[in-house]
Amino acid sequence: MDSPLVSLDLNTWHPGQGDPAWTGAVESGRVLFFPRLAFEVLPAERSLLRESMLAAGSRNVSLDAAGVLKGAAEGAADQAVLKAMIGRFRAQALQLVEGLFPTYRGALRVAPTSFRPRRVETRAQSVRADDKRLHVDAFPTRPNHGERILRVFANVNPDGVPRVWRVGSDFESVARQFLPRAKPYRLWQARALQALHVTKSLRSEYDHDMLQLHDGMKRDDDYQRNGAQTEVSFPTGSVWVCFSDQTVHAAMSGQFMMEQTLHLPAGREASRAASPLAILTRLAGRPLVGISYPT
Ligand code: SIN
Ligand code: FE
Repeated sequence: MDSPLVSLDLNTWHPGQGDPAWTGAVESGRVLFFPRLAFEVLPAERSLLRESMLAAGSRNVSLDAAGVLKGAAEGAADQAVLKAMIGRFRAQALQLVEGLFPTYRGALRVAPTSFRPRRVETRAQSVRADDKRLHVDAFPTRPNHGERILRVFANVNPDGVPRVWRVGSDFESVARQFLPRAKPYRLWQARALQALHVTKSLRSEYDHDMLQLHDGMKRDDDYQRNGAQTEVSFPTGSVWVCFSDQTVHAAMSGQFMMEQTLHLPAGREASRAASPLAILTRLAGRPLVGISYPT
């Protein structure tokens, strides 16, 4: 397998001129890796790098698009410092993405920014929620109809502990392997989920297929052990960027990470044919979104 990473020597959050090759690489499912680009944690912020910054029951601390901090433990002073740190990461991540991928300018929608203080290895979770298993990101409650999930990650571990991922093979190979086992899409089920407010809008066949891939991969122990994969290690003081709805990934170990999610409208890619929606549509031989069903 080719390396799933494309290393770039950049050491600034303002890349200036983007290179179309970077857009091509990220759209083909590669991870852009910046070993010399660090998100700087300021001295006053260092004490926030502790797991107890999480409120009970929260997985992450997040700053929503409206600037509201969620999931942080009590303590107004710490919360204000944390909010500023997450906000600074958001500003830098947006600048980075604008510079790297100029053709996305004006089209990206900012989703929440998160600070992830939990240690990956000790997170006990159901198989479906276990991100230590290879998967592509797909959301059960928020159908996206082909809108893309672009993510910027920064390892801020203060003790030099890397964040270790496994990265699987390309989306099309994995889709060809798992789609034949997927449950068929049923419009009545999608309508029932929407009526019960399980989903925030109608789950399209695309969303259904993406969830089937996500769950099918995570449930398959043989695939998890023996499927094509490469272990990669992201050191403290590095940044990486990928389309997490396309890059097959699993987070194996590490602690303290920043993450920014951005959404790109379906079809706004530089090369549409490489997207999960285009690939799944080709494999299905029929449209998977944008169908107007009789009510
Ligand atoms: C994931 O998106 O599956 C988790 C990424 C991470 O925690 O490093
Ligand atoms: Fe994921």
